[in-house]
Amino acid sequence: MKAVQISRIGGPEVLETVELPEPAPGPGFVRVANRAIGVNFHDINVRRGDEPNTVLPMVPGADFAGLVDAIGEGVEGIHLGDPVVCIHMHGGYAEKSLAMAPLAVLIPEALSFEQAAACPVAGLTAYFLVHQVVPIHRGTRVVVHAAAGSVGCFMGGLLRAVGAVGIGLVSSEAARSAGYVHVVNYRAVDPVTAVRELTGGDGADVVFDSVAGPAFGRSIEMVATGGTVVLFGRAAGDPPLGALDQWLRSRRNISILTYFLGTTLQTHLDAVPGAFQALFDGLLSGSIWLPLEIVPLAAAARAHARIEAQQTVRKVILKP
Ligand SMILES: NC(=O)c1ccc[n+]([C@@H]2O[C@H](COP(=O)([O-])OP(=O)(O)OC[C@H]3O[C@@H](n4cnc5c(N)ncnc54)[C@H](OP(=O)(O)O)[C@@H]3O)[C@@H](O)[C@H]2O)c1
Repeated sequence: MKAVQISRIGGPEVLETVELPEPAPGPGFVRVANRAIGVNFHDINVRRGDEPNTVLPMVPGADFAGLVDAIGEGVEGIHLGDPVVCIHMHGGYAEKSLAMAPLAVLIPEALSFEQAAACPVAGLTAYFLVHQVVPIHRGTRVVVHAAAGSVGCFMGGLLRAVGAVGIGLVSSEAARSAGYVHVVNYRAVDPVTAVRELTGGDGADVVFDSVAGPAFGRSIEMVATGGTVVLFGRAAGDPPLGALDQWLRSRRNISILTYFLGTTLQTHLDAVPGAFQALFDGLLSGSIWLPLEIVPLAAAARAHARIEAQQTVRKVILKP
């Protein structure tokens, strides 16, 4: 089968199309003949060497959707030919991929493979951030960095559904349709001043920061007294060394949390089917807006380069 593999850490050029044997599902696993594969920023972190425990060579890709074409021992409730969407640590950028059976979820008939493949990492992260990590209710003022990205689009719809006041930070106007009450272009205006103005001078109750780097200091500045900054990514690199000092000196009783979807998948596996269902319902009803850009599997390297250069405003889906 064809797969896109990395055999060394590096730039997009290390993603190479290769011929590999089809993987065999062990006990508790299913194999899926992929119809659509989601690209996540996580895949870029893996390729750059920012994810611990990466063993090379490896096939990146955590999100894939297709038809079950082999079933391992002891798997119940899944049948050959079932349309499923899966989340797995790696192995997605391939014609066939393995997943643990509990993380292979049936796709409703009305949803396309491409829409389904957009959901796992980005959608589940957004779902658990909005519904589990910090209390968010009607009227909670929530800033989301990278609001036009995949996680950001899911969050816009999910925040609107609970009646929160979503404030999306973007480098373009692309998040307008994603459900945010306010969209702030951080390249055009100072985002800290804008958030303070939009919240009557208070700052936001919650800031979801997946960009980090210099943005992290701004997250601390724009959160309200007693508020929470959730750090769940570092698209722009680690927070600067002075961030801890800035936090301690702020004297504003700010909480800083980290969030990792992988931990939730271990501790709350039973919540995953319900979360997927909520994402499917949101996409089908239109309350979640997530435009897709569909490219061939062999174009994975180009897709990575464009995402890193902040040139995409759509969820990139690879077609094997
Ligand atoms: N902790 C977890 O479990 C978890 C799970 C899923 C995702 N994440 C993190 O969440 C973030 C978003 O993931 P995603 O898959 O939604 O990504 P994505 O769709 O590729 O979106 C990334 C967005 O980040 C923004 N950005 C700002 N500074 C950037 C920079 N220096 N380089 C690249 N992009 C930059 C861009 O928006 P603007 O140009 O508008 O700023 C871009 O739209 C990533 O950092 C990812 O690692 C974490």
